[in-house]
Amino acid sequence: MRAACFLPALCLSLLQVGAPPGAAARYTADWASLDARPLPPWFDEAKVGIFVHWGVFSVPGFGRFSEWFWCWWKQKRAAEVDFMKKYYPPGFEYADFAHEFRAEFFDADNWAEIFKASGARYVVFTSKHHEGFTNWPSPTSWNWNSMDVGPHRDLVGELAAAIRKKSLHFGLYHSLYEWFNPLFLADQASGFKTQNFVAEKALPELMDLVKTYKPDLIWSDGDWEATDAYWNSTQFLAWLYNDSPIKDVVVTNDRWGKGCYCKHGGYYNCADRYTPGELPDHKWEKCQSIDTLSWGYRRNMKLPEVMDLPAIIKDMVYVVAMGGNYLLNIGPMSDGMIAPVFEERLRGLGVWLGINGEAIYSSKPWRVQKENSTLPVWYTARNNTVYAIFLDWPSKQSLQLPAPKMSGATTVTLLDNPNVSLKWAPLTPTAGLVVMMPLMPASPGNAWCLKLEGVV
Ligand SMILES: *[C@@H]1O[C@H](CO)[C@@H](O)[C@H](O)[C@H]1NC(C)=O
Ligand SMILES: *[C@@H]1O[C@H](CO)[C@@H](O)[C@H](O)[C@H]1NC(C)=O
Ligand SMILES: *[C@@H]1O[C@H](CO)[C@@H](O)[C@H](O)[C@H]1NC(C)=O
Ligand SMILES: *[C@@H]1O[C@H](CO)[C@@H](O)[C@H](O)[C@H]1NC(C)=O
Repeated sequence: MRAACFLPALCLSLLQVGAPPGAAARYTADWASLDARPLPPWFDEAKVGIFVHWGVFSVPGFGRFSEWFWCWWKQKRAAEVDFMKKYYPPGFEYADFAHEFRAEFFDADNWAEIFKASGARYVVFTSKHHEGFTNWPSPTSWNWNSMDVGPHRDLVGELAAAIRKKSLHFGLYHSLYEWFNPLFLADQASGFKTQNFVAEKALPELMDLVKTYKPDLIWSDGDWEATDAYWNSTQFLAWLYNDSPIKDVVVTNDRWGKGCYCKHGGYYNCADRYTPGELPDHKWEKCQSIDTLSWGYRRNMKLPEVMDLPAIIKDMVYVVAMGGNYLLNIGPMSDGMIAPVFEERLRGLGVWLGINGEAIYSSKPWRVQKENSTLPVWYTARNNTVYAIFLDWPSKQSLQLPAPKMSGATTVTLLDNPNVSLKWAPLTPTAGLVVMMPLMPASPGNAWCLKLEGVV
């Protein structure tokens, strides 16, 4: 049902004739049942989210994909081994970094203000990455959580409260596996015949997060070493969808065990930075990091490695035109500061969305997602309005749009200047428009949007 429901026209009709609210379906612990759950509508409407990777890995804050620092070091990747040899005494363990994770300047309200200003509608925060350190006082993560060591604060709780004050949806990233957890390693050594790590750590923590923080989204990860049967993913999801306090609003992704992604769960992430070439028939999300070389903060990050605002907008527009959500990542510093370069990108995105957001939020893919005539143009649609987004200004002051079919009632405006109708002429007798463009308005992200009313 949801696969069909993803397409715009079908979606409306199915929603109208679908099960009446209140006649709550019970889900069973199998993929056929769980995969049929309709995605709560807030997620597709939101379109833009902010991903936040923060943990003990933010302390070394070093190397490509710094959130994997511990693993790289143990696997003897040269950069991390040299770094540790040079700057840390013999015997220094990864766990010792936790004492330097102090979050001195962490102000959840300041983060929430920045995220709100970015135009994002949801935030996904690492409750626990593969290192196993929990950013909340987990009772099953003794001495390896943000209350016992390091910040001595409930980071998840503080951020949840601040995000909700700004009316944003709050989501939690959760890694199922932990690289070096002895319970996990023992289960692994048994060929995953034993499930002690799942019973004593992974499931209790997931349920604790759900009950304590009531996240609107669970972004599962770290699933790939073992099957969903080992993780008891279908049992957990059946509980989540039937009986948890967030059963009606919670959205999940697709990383619930080896072979699950792009196939089972809620929306699809598929692989990191999934970039489909054709319109997928299932709701999806692309996660992308502003620092192209890491999700966690890197103190050795250089400007050319950082996406600029036009690159971010271009990527987001492509994703939304293809029916996806865009989850844009930042890695805060271990002291709780968001690097000004990230903050500047996020605020710039918000300025652009402030002008052009009606083409993004709650939009649906149009019958054509992209075409290339005068310039490459991406289309989105909302109700009967079609939006044409372009990432360069046409040099001849006219823009050809071959796909839309005009009518007597067709009007064309630029979202930067919505009160002025633009002149247009038919491109051919049956289809297409040639739009006479005004003088180029300054754009915060070098991308503009035409609003086409009365076209099909
Ligand atoms: C996993 O699910 C099976 C089947 O329902 C159940 O017997 C088992 O106890 C569960 N394991 C854990 C760790 O919850
Ligand atoms: C699309 O248009 C651009 C010019 O804006 C051109 O460089 C590019 O080659 C075109 N691509 C295709 C596939 O036609
Ligand atoms: C789009 O249509 C829906 C109902 O189908 C309506 O609630 C909504 O206000 C409309 N939005 C706009 C921008 O016209
Ligand atoms: C556009 O029109 C609306 C409604 O008529 C008006 O409130 C608004 O001030 C106008 N905006 C500009 C930029 O002229």
